[in-house]
Formats: sequence, C-alpha cells, structure tokens
Amino acid sequence: MIIHSANFVKSSGRWQDCPEPTLPEYAFIGRSNVGKSSLINAMMNRKDLAKTSQTPGKTQLINHFLINENWFLTDLPGYGYAKVSKSLRKDFEKLITNYILNRKNLVNLFVLIDVRHTPQKIDLEFMEWCAESGIPFSIVFTKADKLKGMMAEKNANAYLEKMLETWDEVPNHFLTSSEKKIGTEDVLRFIEDTNAMLKNNKIQFV
Ligand code: GTP
Ligand code: MG
Repeated sequence: MIIHSANFVKSSGRWQDCPEPTLPEYAFIGRSNVGKSSLINAMMNRKDLAKTSQTPGKTQLINHFLINENWFLTDLPGYGYAKVSKSLRKDFEKLITNYILNRKNLVNLFVLIDVRHTPQKIDLEFMEWCAESGIPFSIVFTKADKLKGMMAEKNANAYLEKMLETWDEVPNHFLTSSEKKIGTEDVLRFIEDTNAMLKNNKIQFV
C-alpha cells in the first residue's frame, strides 16, 4: 500500500469521544513497551507520528490516525504495565475493553507480542477474551531484529505451536521489526486487502 497521507486526528480518554466511526479501523494493542507506537511509525514511514518511549506506559489514551483519508489506525495504551497503581491499571483495562467492544468500525485488532518472549499468560488470556467476544485479531510479533539468524522465525513458530495446545487453529500472524522495517509491508497489504473486501461488501464492520 502506498501511504499518501497519515495524520494524527485526536486522543480520546473514552470510546465515546473517538472520531465518528465512518471508516474502517485497525487498532494496535499489546503489553506496554512491546513496540506498538514504533510499528505505526515504521508502517507510515514517519519518525514521530506516534509517540514512542523507552519507559513503558507512554501511550495512555486512544490515539487515532487517519491514513490516506480512507481508514483509521489506532494506537491503544499498553496493558499489563505493572508500575502503575492497581486502580489506574483497572481504569486502562476498562478503557481498552470498552473501546474494543463498542467501536462499531473496528475491523481488526493487531495483538503485538515481543518475539523474544515465551507465551505470557496476560497475552494468551487477552486473545482468548477476543475470541470469546467475537473480535477478529491477528498476532504481530515485534522486535525480530533483536534475535540473530533464524531465531525470530523459530521463536514465533514455537509460540504458535504452544497456542495449538489450546486453540483449534493458529491466528493470522506477522513477524516484524520496526527498526529494520521487516514485515511492515505485509501488515499494510493485509489492511489493503481487508479494505478492498469491505468495499466490495464481501465482509462487514463488526
Ligand atoms: P507503550 O506506549 O508504553 O504501551 O509502548 P509501545 O508498545 O508503544 O512501545 P514503543 O513503540 O514506545 O517502543 C518501546 C521501546 O522498544 C522503544 O525504546 C523502541 O525504540 C523499542 N522498539 C520498538 N520496536 C522495536 C523494534 O522493532 N526493534 C528494536 N530493536 N527496538 C524496538
Ligand atoms: Mg505507545
């Protein structure tokens, strides 16, 4: 997909305050520091469109970006950030789950997972919740450049194999690196194909 324009629209503290749900929307979610904002910047070929940080918990609001005047890309706050108070963590969780369950134009959620890590309970439980709630999602493994040789592919495959112990099939998935721009075109192609299917009424908004 050729990116003609990528513009920040607004930050929202509640799903009710998000932009009018008139265009297809794709949202990035995952643990704090997994690389959501970095991947958005890499896909859009921009340095500072989404704010990144080495300190977890940078993104605390729902951030909407309008791409090619045609679809929304959304940067969500990370879940499972241990260093904030329990009540604040609950507030974030509520913000995220309410957004996911109520956002009419949400077409697909990209669940980001650091490819260096073994399957973590919090991510597995989140994906189970998505499946139970009928929310379409894809896994995006991040930070592939941090592993040498074929280790990133190996780790991603081990992760998916582990999932097969409890899932009937592996979810749609991508292996990426924002640093080295690996896999970003694949994610964009998926979005482009999905947008085309929506346009031809082959699929509908959830
Ligand atoms: P929150 O907004 O806190 O939830 O974090 P986030 O998921 O948006 O993570 P962010 O994009 O801010 O990245 C966190 C850190 O990981 C930053 O220091 C990034 O430079 C680094 N990082 C992100 N993606 C990659 C990658 O593909 N490769 C490498 N080497 N570092 C990355
Ligand atoms: Mg962020």
